[in-house]
Amino acid sequence: MPGPQPGRLPSVIAPSILSADFARLGEAVRGVVTAGADWIHVDVMDNHYVPNLTIGPMVCEAIAPYAQGPRGPALLDVHLMVEPVDALIPMFAKAGAGLISVHPESTRHLHRTLALIRDSGCQVGLVFNPATPLAWLDGVLDQLDLVMLMSVNPGFGGQSFIAGTLPRLRQVRQRLDAHVRGGGRAIRLEVDGGVKADNIGAIAAAGADTFVAGSAVFGSSDWAATIAALRQGAEQAGLAAA
Ligand code: DX5
Ligand code: ZN
Repeated sequence: MPGPQPGRLPSVIAPSILSADFARLGEAVRGVVTAGADWIHVDVMDNHYVPNLTIGPMVCEAIAPYAQGPRGPALLDVHLMVEPVDALIPMFAKAGAGLISVHPESTRHLHRTLALIRDSGCQVGLVFNPATPLAWLDGVLDQLDLVMLMSVNPGFGGQSFIAGTLPRLRQVRQRLDAHVRGGGRAIRLEVDGGVKADNIGAIAAAGADTFVAGSAVFGSSDWAATIAALRQGAEQAGLAAA
């Protein structure tokens, strides 16, 4: 049983709008926020870094007002799967992003790109594809608010969870807890891809505290019940792991 996890933060459920009805995005955002979503995960794809093309800053700006819920505005968790990435960072910050995550392979100078996210007024995230070495964390932890582990290869919703993500989650959880013990800021550990009610317990037990769920939520008939089940699964397992 892992020891106490000083870096673990309260669970966050972040539905990905990639699996929403793109003809009614505003209603989808309002609906899941009303149904209990903490964040809205916004997948930005350029058909260059990943083999798909989604939305730009204009759509992010259009949906931002719909992210208002009974508990105030839901954070827009913008996941940039684009290369080059720097020019889009201030544009999404201006469009209402609360957190911007980038892939290390999408920039020539990671430290500078992460500083640009912070200077643009957003929280800073670093995203790891399933085959991206975790060594990219070396030297940038102090710049981060969030580490995201992809549990699918990016580009599409509705894929199956890659089980090899669990040991990577445990490795990063240990690293983030050591960072806090050493006086560093608590950093969220987000998992993205194939998260469902029947695997979120194992994912939380491995150390994640922030959960993207696209098809699990938008493919269900009762968004509130699905979000509640995801939260219950995460919090029960997370507590057991603490
Ligand atoms: C994939 C995206 C994910 C995806 C998650 O490239 O980054 O956020 O939309 O969708 P599900 O939960 O259906 O795997
Ligand atoms: Zn994503």
